[in-house]
Amino acid sequence: MENEIIAMPRIGDKAPEFKAVTTQGEINFPSDFNGSWVILFSHPADFTPVCTSEFMTFATLEKQFNEANCKLVGLSVDGLYSHIAWLRTIKEKIEYKGMKDVEVKFPLIEDITMEVAKKYGMMMPGESSTKAVRAVFFVDPKGIIRAIIYYPLSLGRNFDELYRALIAMQTADEFSIATPADWRPGDDVIIPTAGSCGVAKERMEDKKNMKCYDWFFCTKPISKEDVERKVLNK
Ligand code: BEZ
Repeated sequence: MENEIIAMPRIGDKAPEFKAVTTQGEINFPSDFNGSWVILFSHPADFTPVCTSEFMTFATLEKQFNEANCKLVGLSVDGLYSHIAWLRTIKEKIEYKGMKDVEVKFPLIEDITMEVAKKYGMMMPGESSTKAVRAVFFVDPKGIIRAIIYYPLSLGRNFDELYRALIAMQTADEFSIATPADWRPGDDVIIPTAGSCGVAKERMEDKKNMKCYDWFFCTKPISKEDVERKVLNK
């Protein structure tokens, strides 16, 4: 493992294909998810505390992600029976930060052979040669990897940030804009080609509201309601 050279998928690549057994039956990735965004994420091990806090949080937020046309798929290099026992323990025994009776309804992949984890660059031997790190792959409705975030074993993920990133990418696609640091729906967005041509193409209405900090840095407002209407179909 230490000397193995593994090509990791990159942003803009087609998500590598695989077939896997999960707690919700067999899946073919990414074809089963065509037309939806999907977050494929790995965790180091079942029956561990950080992972438990993450699964309870993600399961609690699943409806919110689904409403943004995004499915969730988890993975660890544990086996199916371990996954099932762990998820049952979470539902039946764990009460944490007001979350209880939490049912994990999204698929959790068993990957004892580490085939998928290796394909996706989730194994990082410097951190652990037996456990996957906390990787997050955002795959768009066409099966293209759009963002990748990695965390080490000891650091639980920030699920607000995962949701923010999802909505920001969907908003960028829908409105052909980019989003500035810490963007949230309702904040101004960036007009990507803020040089003369880009600016000239803006509608008159947008031009009025445009704010330029320099020739290369212009923003315009998009209301929270417009984001919700176009991106979340609200
Ligand atoms: C955890 O989820 O708590 C954990 C898993 C592997 C290593 C360290 C922490």
